[in-house]
Amino acid sequence: MAELEGDVAIEIRDLWKAFGPNQVMAGLDLDIIRGETLVILGRSGVGKSVLLKHIIGILRPDRGSVKVNGELICQLKGKELYKAIMDMGMLFQGAALFDSMTVSQNVGFYLREHGGHTKAEIQDLVDHALEMVGLSGTQDKLPSDLSGGMRKRAGLARLIVYRPKFLLYDEPTTGLDPITAMQINELIVQTQEELKATSIVVTHDAVSALFVGDRLALHENGKIAHIEKAEAFMKIDHPTIQFLKRTMTEDPRVFRSEMGHD
Ligand SMILES: Nc1ncnc2c1ncn2[C@@H]1O[C@H](COP(=O)(O)OP(=O)(O)OP(=O)(O)O)[C@@H](O)[C@H]1O
Ligand SMILES: [Mg+2]
Repeated sequence: MAELEGDVAIEIRDLWKAFGPNQVMAGLDLDIIRGETLVILGRSGVGKSVLLKHIIGILRPDRGSVKVNGELICQLKGKELYKAIMDMGMLFQGAALFDSMTVSQNVGFYLREHGGHTKAEIQDLVDHALEMVGLSGTQDKLPSDLSGGMRKRAGLARLIVYRPKFLLYDEPTTGLDPITAMQINELIVQTQEELKATSIVVTHDAVSALFVGDRLALHENGKIAHIEKAEAFMKIDHPTIQFLKRTMTEDPRVFRSEMGHD
């Protein structure tokens, strides 16, 4: 395991979670360092989204603990849970926007809900967030008027507008063309720098993982099987990691012929 530098912002200990007979978490331990961007990789269905939902407190462990800023998020209720959640922003897989609200209303949603800002302040913050994600001028459009990549970016704007201390991204580049994916990667790094946040990025995209990640983790069999700084991670002799590495450097036709196709 990689040496830890800095203080632990999120501490997960012996996390167990089953859905019926499906044991998804099986004693998972993970420390996330304040200010880092941690990338979580793993096969589909392994439980990456479930892990993120435990961190933001919308799923409760069967056993074990999840601490955020030293607080047991897994035991908070009501107002206290709401307060803790307001420190966190999550870009959900699929980046669901509210279909009936304009882009501007979507991005300002949490600010309006949270109170404490005038209408004019909210509009300024919304405009700034939209500018950051390159969506100036879309304020009055509906989500259905946007492309998939634009919707992702609007989802990102809704996240960064209230400057959360923790940013969680569930597959932010999935389904995007490589250029748009790279814009999202850049935004993740830019946001991290601007907000000095702690970020967790779940992805299947090796380019994205190496672009945004300080450390990379492999989620497997209900646990974190490996966690290392990016360079050391890519050297780990594990079939999934070596495959990911090869997808970036080799002509996909090499795989094609190795799999017996000509
Ligand atoms: N609320 C739920 N109720 C029942 N089963 C669930 C629930 N949420 C997740 N699961 C199950 O837990 C397992 C892990 O799901 P999860 O969505 O975390 O996978 P994932 O690693 O994010 O996969 P992907 O890469 O495809 O997004 C799956 O078998 C899924 O069916
Ligand atoms: Mg998922």
